[in-house]
Amino acid sequence: EGNNSLIVVSNRLPFVLKRGSNGVLQRSHSAGGLVTAVAPVVTKCNGKWIGWPGLFDLGGHEKVPEASDDDKSPTAGLKSNQVIPVNIPENDFEEFYNGFCNGTLWPLFHSFSCKITYDRNSWQTYQKVNDYFAEKTVEALRYQQEVILVDEEIPIVWIHDYQLLLCPARIRELAEDEGLSCKLGFFLHIPFPSYDMLNTLEGSEEILYGMLACDVIGFHIDLYSQNFLESCLRKLGCRVDFDNKTVEIGSRVVRVRTLPIGIPFDKFEECAKNAPKVNGQKDEKDTKLIISVDRVDYTKGLVQKVRAIEKLLEKHRHEYAGKLTFLQIGVPSRTNIKEYQSLHNELSREIGRVNGKFSTADWYPIQFMYKGLPQDELAAYYRDSDVALVTPLVDGMNLVAKEFVACQINNSGALVLSYFAGAAESMKEALMVNPYEVNLLADSLHKALQMSSSECQLRMEKLRARERKFDVHYWMSSFLEEMRFVESIEKPKL
Ligand code: UDP
Ligand code: G6P
Repeated sequence: EGNNSLIVVSNRLPFVLKRGSNGVLQRSHSAGGLVTAVAPVVTKCNGKWIGWPGLFDLGGHEKVPEASDDDKSPTAGLKSNQVIPVNIPENDFEEFYNGFCNGTLWPLFHSFSCKITYDRNSWQTYQKVNDYFAEKTVEALRYQQEVILVDEEIPIVWIHDYQLLLCPARIRELAEDEGLSCKLGFFLHIPFPSYDMLNTLEGSEEILYGMLACDVIGFHIDLYSQNFLESCLRKLGCRVDFDNKTVEIGSRVVRVRTLPIGIPFDKFEECAKNAPKVNGQKDEKDTKLIISVDRVDYTKGLVQKVRAIEKLLEKHRHEYAGKLTFLQIGVPSRTNIKEYQSLHNELSREIGRVNGKFSTADWYPIQFMYKGLPQDELAAYYRDSDVALVTPLVDGMNLVAKEFVACQINNSGALVLSYFAGAAESMKEALMVNPYEVNLLADSLHKALQMSSSECQLRMEKLRARERKFDVHYWMSSFLEEMRFVESIEKPKL
């Protein structure tokens, strides 16, 4: 697959550029499921990645730096000439990213109706910024067609996630106009909401049309695919075939596909085999480590987890006092948005309260690391934990659950998983919980901590086998297979 035919478009480039005090650009790690999944794929097939570089003062001809030698992140293999930065003026970015993407679409698509802000200005900026991305993409297509002359390979443009829902329609329009050949595909990494939720949005029709400019549209689980089909029927009146998951639009038939994402399983397993033991976490044999890894986001159920730990200690104080640590790794996320700031405050307060309630001279139950870690370090924590607590209130998929099992090379830990993560569709051997029921959550934790090693092993082996088979490369091949049958856009100007 050594051609130039894959072009990935996403809001963020897979790494953030930072300018050091000497003015020199450096790549730095960016967290999130999308990057973890897509970066190895683009590296492998020598594709291109179009996205926002994370700063506003990137000069027009300034080169994106190569990865440093000690870079072990998923993006280390990406060469600078594979990366195409999209410059967005700071004002636009504020309304686009903090406004429409994460103030409106993120809560709306996760059905958190109380957190949605509706604002016409930010919707207009969203349209404008989606155009910037489309124009950059068309520029790349033009270059590919004119300069590289790849005649046998039709470029596949693969657009990702909720920040770019309008982008496909604009790319199609421009490409048709200029007679540029390409195929368009889309993948949504978060849930797709029900029709009544989507309908509260002024731009919902444009959003559906925006997505339908692609010939293949992928979602993590069937529920999201069905929600999308339902909206196309009700909102647009399209002819929809729910069994075959197709939508007719003009002369095209769009295929909606359920393609649950996986992780680079072998890579995580390898890291878990090689990583040194985590610092000071498990010196004593009878201490237990519970781990959680999340962006600090209100969809992740962070406060509920702290309350569950409180309940667990209330119920079994003598068993666990002094012998249990709950480590919450919480990556700072979208910190300019009020909802995220108040969540961080509330979380810190709750952790302080629970620690205050149970702590002794040499022990407290909850450790909160408010920072991101590189994945090879995460691997060690995943491996050395007794329980992973993955209990979002709603989550498109949740890769942390999958990474945890990949790193459980001794099959000795247990996974507690929310019903409301997309991952729950397949990871049936986990202990399933409703994270809103804090009492039951505490009971599940207790059960997980007490689980016999044979039961842990039985469950973990099955979980691992499934994730090994349906890894990120499987996901990628399934998507590309779907794209094979798509006809190229090519209607030269009359
Ligand atoms: N992640 C990371 N460093 C951290 C915390 C998280 O690299 O300190 C990565 C993690 O390995 C996972 C991703 O961020 O691949 C989170 O993906 P997930 O689907 O669980 O949640 P999202 O952030 O996409 O909502
Ligand atoms: C989720 C979204 C991604 C996003 C990531 C990190 O995984 O699906 O699109 O990139 O979170 O969020 P951020 O706002 O920092 O890009």
